[in-house]
Amino acid sequence: MGDKSNNSLDDIFTRALSGRSLYKDRNALRSDYIPSKLPFREKQIISIGETLAPLLHGSKCSNLLIYGKTGTGKTAVAKYVLMKLSEKASTRNLKIKFAYSNTRVAGTEYRLLFDVAQYMGLSVPFTGLAIGEVFARIISAINSSIITLILVLDEIDFLVKNYGDNLLYELTRANEQLPKGYLSLIGISNDLKFKEFLDPRVLSSLSEEEIVFPPYTAEELKAILYDRSKIAFFDDTITEAAINLCAALAGSEHGDARRALDLLRVSGEVAEREGAPKVEERHVRTAVQKIEQDRMVDALRSLPLQAKILLWSIISSGEANSTGEIYERYSNICHKINVEVLTQRRVSMLLSELDLLGLVTTNLVSKGRYGRTKKINPSINLQFVREVFSEDPIMNSLL
Ligand SMILES: Nc1ncnc2c1ncn2[C@@H]1O[C@H](COP(=O)(O)OP(=O)(O)OP(=O)(O)O)[C@@H](O)[C@H]1O
Ligand SMILES: [Mg+2]
Repeated sequence: MGDKSNNSLDDIFTRALSGRSLYKDRNALRSDYIPSKLPFREKQIISIGETLAPLLHGSKCSNLLIYGKTGTGKTAVAKYVLMKLSEKASTRNLKIKFAYSNTRVAGTEYRLLFDVAQYMGLSVPFTGLAIGEVFARIISAINSSIITLILVLDEIDFLVKNYGDNLLYELTRANEQLPKGYLSLIGISNDLKFKEFLDPRVLSSLSEEEIVFPPYTAEELKAILYDRSKIAFFDDTITEAAINLCAALAGSEHGDARRALDLLRVSGEVAEREGAPKVEERHVRTAVQKIEQDRMVDALRSLPLQAKILLWSIISSGEANSTGEIYERYSNICHKINVEVLTQRRVSMLLSELDLLGLVTTNLVSKGRYGRTKKINPSINLQFVREVFSEDPIMNSLL
C-alpha cells in the first residue's frame, strides 16, 4: 500500500517536472473567459450593438433586458459588446463608461453599488456608508464629469427577489436628476419570474428593449467546443469523440454551453491526472460522475442544520420509512443534541426540498384497502453523507 501510493506520488511529481501537460491554455476553459469569437450569437450581438449605438453620437438609448436559459452566452455576449463599444468610444474620446455587477455575486445592494463605484474609479469604502450616500456619489460623478454610464446588472433576478425593486426604481429614474450625464441600464436574467415583482413603471422602463438568447443545439455546442479546445489544448491531445460526447451530453439537457465547457475542462483534468496522452470518451464519462458528485457535496454542505438532521434520520435508518417514522426519528435526534423540534408541517416542507435536490425519493405505496402511504428512500450513499457531514461540528457529534 505504502509503496503503491509512493509510486503514484512519484508519478505525479515526475510528470509535473517533465512539464507534460495537455493544456496549452487552461484559462480558456474558465467560466469567465471571453473568447474573441462568439459564434451563433451574431443576431444578439448586432441587436445589442444597435440598441447602444445612439450613445456614440451623444443620443440617448433604450434600456435593455436580456434573457435566456443558463449557459446561453448572455454574460459573455454582453461583456463582449461593451468591450467593443468602449474601444470605439475611447478612440473618439467619448466619455462612455460601463460598469458591471453580478447581483448574486455582489449579494447586497451596498456591494452592488460598491462594484459600480469601483468601475467608475470612485473611492468608496467597502462598508460603512448609507446606501443612499453611495448612490448619490455615483450620480454626482456621472453628472459632474458628464459621463454616459452603461450599467449592467447581471443575474438581476437575485436583486429583485431578495431586495425588491427600490434600487431599480431609483436607477430607472436617475436620469431625471442628471442635467448633464446619462445612465443606461442593461439587465440580464435566466429567470423571467422576477418581472412579477417589479412595479409596472420599473418594468416598462427596464424592458424598453428585450433580447432573447435561445439554447444552443448539440451541433452548435460541438462547434463551440471545437473552437475552445483549439485554444485550450495542445494539438492531438483531445479526441474528436470526446468533444462530441461533451456536446451531446450538454445538448441533451437544454443546450448549456457552460455545462459543455465544464465537462471538457474536467475531462481534461481526469485524463491529465491519469497521465493519459489524450482526452478520450472514457475520461468524459468519469468527468460526468465527478461533476455530479461535486454537485452533491455542495448541496449537502449548504443544507441548513434542520435539513441535515432530517436527512440523517432518513439515511441512518437503512430502510424506506413512512413520514411518521421519520418524524419520530428526527424528533429523537433533535432532543439528543438539544435542537428545536420543528412541526410535522415544516418537516414535510423540508422533506420536499430534499426531494427537489435529489437527495431522497418519495414513493406512494399502496396499502390495499387502507389507502396509500408515502415511503421515503435516501437516494444517496450513507458513507458519502457521513464524510460531508463530519465537517459540521454539530452533525459530527451524531455520526
Ligand atoms: N457562442 C459562444 N461561443 C463561444 N463560447 C460561448 C458562447 N456562448 C457561451 N459561451 C461560453 O459558455 C460559457 C457560459 O456562457 P455565459 O456565462 O455567457 O452564459 P449565461 O447565459 O450568462 O449563463 P447564466 O444565465 O448561467 O449566467 C462561457 O464560458 C462562455 O464563454
Ligand atoms: Mg451569466
